[in-house]
Amino acid sequence: QQARTQLQAILDTHRHEAGALLPILHALQDTLGHIPDWSVADIAQALNLSRAEVHGVITFYHHFRTSPPAAHNLQICQAEACQARGSRELTAHAEQALGCGLHGRSGSHDLDLQPVYCLGLCATGPNIMLDDKLVSRVDAARLDRLLNSVKE
Ligand code: FES
Repeated sequence: QQARTQLQAILDTHRHEAGALLPILHALQDTLGHIPDWSVADIAQALNLSRAEVHGVITFYHHFRTSPPAAHNLQICQAEACQARGSRELTAHAEQALGCGLHGRSGSHDLDLQPVYCLGLCATGPNIMLDDKLVSRVDAARLDRLLNSVKE
């Protein structure tokens, strides 16, 4: 019920803006951590869109999630400078260790694995962000240690 009230407040704030859908989706995800399925009908109605249109936008942007986030979040930089320093190999290692691909969820670690495009420390890549922690010069062994620390 509280989530519905929060959605209503977000709709009231943005519904009359041009291009209101994206600000609404961002605000909702910031507030609830995800875009619940039940909210699609309310958003569509408020903006005079079809459910399919709202759903299409949610699925088009990887940023939006339709289920609550996992307990942990690992982002691996996929931008050029980090790639030149081995982030592709590091990503492949992470996918194997976690048993999921980019944009996937690891059941063994209760963790979402996501790409990120530049964390602003290009000279010291490959860079990752594990929960709120930015770590540079990450190799496979270091990543394993970090993953073990969140598993406990
Ligand atoms: Fe990875 Fe900039 S390219 S931090």
